[in-house]
Amino acid sequence: MANKKRIGILTSGGDCAGLNAVIRAVVRHAVGTYEWEVVGICQATHGLMTRPPQIMTLGIEQVDSWLMLGGTVLGTTNKGNPFAFPMSDGTTIDRSQEIIDGYHQLNLDALIGIGGDGSLAILRRLAQQGDINFVAIPKTIDNDVNITEFSIGFDTAVSVATEAIDRLHFTAASHSRVMILEVMGRDAGHIALNAGIAGGAQIILIPEIPYKLENIYNKIRRRQKIGKNFSVAVVSEAVCTQSGETVQKMEQFGECRLGGIGQYFANEIAQATGAETRVTVLGHLQRGGISSPLDRVLGSAFGVAAVDLIATGQFDRMVTWQNREVRSVPITEAIKDYRAVDPQDTLVKTARGLGICLGDR
Ligand code: F6P
Repeated sequence: MANKKRIGILTSGGDCAGLNAVIRAVVRHAVGTYEWEVVGICQATHGLMTRPPQIMTLGIEQVDSWLMLGGTVLGTTNKGNPFAFPMSDGTTIDRSQEIIDGYHQLNLDALIGIGGDGSLAILRRLAQQGDINFVAIPKTIDNDVNITEFSIGFDTAVSVATEAIDRLHFTAASHSRVMILEVMGRDAGHIALNAGIAGGAQIILIPEIPYKLENIYNKIRRRQKIGKNFSVAVVSEAVCTQSGETVQKMEQFGECRLGGIGQYFANEIAQATGAETRVTVLGHLQRGGISSPLDRVLGSAFGVAAVDLIATGQFDRMVTWQNREVRSVPITEAIKDYRAVDPQDTLVKTARGLGICLGDR
């Protein structure tokens, strides 16, 4: 077949639910419809740095049971920017050419990269430098990739966080406590806002809406006055202390990660209102597990659309979900900024209408 292509696919950045649904869709459409060959690249760009490059050939049979599988069968990494790759002596070196050479050794016609804004920026830079026909698919539980209304993994993360709020309500009410749920999301409050509304939280704090502790105390006190001695507050990990400090914790290898703001609120609320408080940090549970139906549908739609972009020679583009339609935009549009919660967003208005305290009034 004259137009028979061989394409590569990789997953990059933090994992999330729905990635394997994307890979399955790419394989089913590329192999089943176009009779192309699909090569899975292992461990993101690390697989292309290795010699020989680490790959797996992907067939329809093999990926068929991957639809609901969590994580990514291909493996991934959110470390080691190849343009400033960390060495054991503390220095960094540019290893981008090794990745580009690895890609060309595989004789691929195009590459599909599934990533968040950071990964997609790196992959696009590699594609530009290395003459790679590149198509991007957005994924991140943070849902902060520009332009697309949904990224893969977000819906599952919201489901997990919502279930956590549901569960916390029962124990909060039983013990008359203020339960604080700290969720992920980096600088965007989408998970907290969506899960907070879905789970019926009384307080939702997101980085995009500045708060005053007094407003939170008043909400809790008003509830106490009417005999509701419990509350559930959802706090996004990037919310700062009232004096503006980011709360972080030191992980291995000297890396800092957001985390701990929930405990700050627990201490402040307990002191000011006399309420007994407890904190749950949901962490990586939001990324793991079986993907939600929406993430499977979205993953399938994005995978098929990405293959069609390659078939029609449209490169340097990212697939998007806009107005219940898969579209595509230049990757530059998607990575020039991140998508924060707009304080005028419909869901912000919804939360206010429901009487949920967002901390600013
Ligand atoms: O970007 C996805 C995300 O899960 C963030 O919400 C979170 O802050 C971060 O990744 C955690 O990264 P790691 O898996 O390296 O701890």
